[in-house]
Amino acid sequence: MLELHQITQAAQALAQARHIVCLTGAGVSAESGVATFRDAQTGLWARFDPQRLASQEGFAEDPGLVWRWYSERLRMVEAATPNPGHLVLARLEGVTPAFTLVTQNVDDLHERAGSQQVQHIHGRIHIFRCNYCRAEHALQPGERTQELPPRCLACGDQVRPDVVWFGEALPEQVVEIAWRAAEACDVMLVVGTSGVVYPVAELPLLAKRAGAVVIDVNPQCNPISEIADIFLQGAGGVILPQVMNALSAGF
Ligand code: OAD
Repeated sequence: MLELHQITQAAQALAQARHIVCLTGAGVSAESGVATFRDAQTGLWARFDPQRLASQEGFAEDPGLVWRWYSERLRMVEAATPNPGHLVLARLEGVTPAFTLVTQNVDDLHERAGSQQVQHIHGRIHIFRCNYCRAEHALQPGERTQELPPRCLACGDQVRPDVVWFGEALPEQVVEIAWRAAEACDVMLVVGTSGVVYPVAELPLLAKRAGAVVIDVNPQCNPISEIADIFLQGAGGVILPQVMNALSAGF
């Protein structure tokens, strides 16, 4: 059960930090109506097969199915709006000397909430690239709702969303920024991730070993809450505004 002193403790740690790393997962967008992956019943992976929809093998087998699934998800992301959790993280960036936001989310809700620097470690759903030559593809009118993926103008191969699928490498530059920041930060603020997808789930452990205070915001206990110094059990859109209020009020 969440206690008031935990909110105060978290606000104090954040106020004193010179460098905060915030790691977000699907849970931060849940209150905006974007489905998470592993929540029972509502999670995407409870209803859809990730091997068919988020892998090279699945794309080769049925490119139209994958294209249509991501188009539908993109439509839902576009219809969503940032929630109070996203807004607080954008404000925190503005009042902290160094702030690195690493998100596993492919949506752009952090950017739309005002976050300036967002490291998308699992890619972005609204950017499109060739599956072969990686050239960025500007979608032409009507291409989004096609039955099959469009073709790359450079090499003719199939276009796909710029998201990381199972078995694919993470974007190198983002990995470098995230790992360096985790080792250097004073506070690692984790919001809305189940902490089971590696290597990203290593980041809080790495920060903790390097001496940072780890804060986890999540309605459910998870592997990160187990190692966290402060576990704020609850929804990001509820807890983060409370922490921000305590911080603004000087605790
Ligand atoms: P998950 O779906 O695995 O976990 C979502 C987490 O958010 C769970 O721990 C929930 O308890 C928590 N949660 C739900 N509602 C919340 C709320 N309102 N506020 C805060 N937390 C809430 O999502 P991720 O951990 O982000 O990878 O999943 C990691 C990766 O697995 C994703 O990036 C995706 C997926 O396969 C790729 O697509 C490569």
